[in-house]
Amino acid sequence: MGKKITVSVIKADVGGYVGHSAMHPDLIEEANNRLEGAQHQEKIIDYHVTACGDDLELIMTHRNGTDNRDIHQMSWEIFESCSDTAHRLGLYGAGQDLLSDAFSGNIRGMGPGVAEMEFEERESEPILIFLADKTSAGAWNLPLYKMFADPFNTAGLAISPSMHAGFRFEVHDVKNHKRIIFDAPEELYDLLVFIGAAGQYLIKSIYTKDNEIGAVSSTERLALIAGKYVGKDDPALVVRCQGKFPAVGEALEPFTMPQIVEGWMRGSHYGPLMPVPVQQATPSRFDGPPRVIALGFQLAGGHLVGPRDMFDDPGFDRAREKTNELSDLLRRHGPFEPHRLPMEAMEYTTLPDVMKKLEGRWEPLD
Ligand code: 13P
Ligand code: 13P
Ligand code: MG
Ligand code: MG
Repeated sequence: MGKKITVSVIKADVGGYVGHSAMHPDLIEEANNRLEGAQHQEKIIDYHVTACGDDLELIMTHRNGTDNRDIHQMSWEIFESCSDTAHRLGLYGAGQDLLSDAFSGNIRGMGPGVAEMEFEERESEPILIFLADKTSAGAWNLPLYKMFADPFNTAGLAISPSMHAGFRFEVHDVKNHKRIIFDAPEELYDLLVFIGAAGQYLIKSIYTKDNEIGAVSSTERLALIAGKYVGKDDPALVVRCQGKFPAVGEALEPFTMPQIVEGWMRGSHYGPLMPVPVQQATPSRFDGPPRVIALGFQLAGGHLVGPRDMFDDPGFDRAREKTNELSDLLRRHGPFEPHRLPMEAMEYTTLPDVMKKLEGRWEPLD
């Protein structure tokens, strides 16, 4: 047993209630029961089960490190049994994100999203866990950039000696399975060239300059794994706060801007990301607008003290209002871009079937 703590957030959509709008309480109960058992058997230190929209999220702490077979297998089995419950209840899209038939060592690449980090717990260790629904994994790029690289968002970058050196960004090219590391602020413009294209280049993790992990996200892109549209990624993000990392308020601040993200109805539209309390993470209008929740915990010997529901604060009312205004504007575009995704991204939706049907009807112009 090492001294280090691992925080694992593993999530999947195993069935929606009703449609893709929310989570049935029986699935939460099932996952809670299984994780309570695992805690009794000392497989994990602590856990918290939650849902953002129709996505079931297992938040776990343990000492096994990242990519641990036992933790991944247990998570897979929990999703399978929750998926059985979902089938029994006739929930929508039961087993939606479980793309493989059998577990083979690591849950990555099997459909669920994974955000895990291992670190030595500080005397006080505040962490934030962000979870989103009706959007894609790239949705964290802009907020992460603001948190860890923009002094207009994060005052500490300029005025705190412990953050002044900046951070190191690990960026994944999820289409070509490559990675690159950028140092900020030195390489800010190089970094932005790539992370501005959030469908392909995703911030996987962020480190201090002396290589202490500060943030990790799930970068699994369902459509790229499945080769077709089966649902949106609905990603997770873990951020350590205070001290050499952004303060809690600095990590929450980016969500006051209703960022336009990919997702919403049928995963095929751009829409604004609305920060909401957990209770309101139930996207209904046009299956949206996309939602983000933030759970705050203090770690104590690996125990999860919390959560605090961080967006349950009138400070985010204006962001929610703006999201509704933008939603009205975008919705009025109906099936027109830029509300609907560009053709390239529509390749992974149901559109190709319609295109195929009309293939023979196209005639040369001359
Ligand atoms: P720390 O430097 O202790 O993280 O606190 C900064 C602060 O006061 C945040 O508002
Ligand atoms: P989810 O990815 O949340 O299942 O949403 C799918 C969808 O098609 C919503 O309209
Ligand atoms: Mg769903
Ligand atoms: Mg979802």
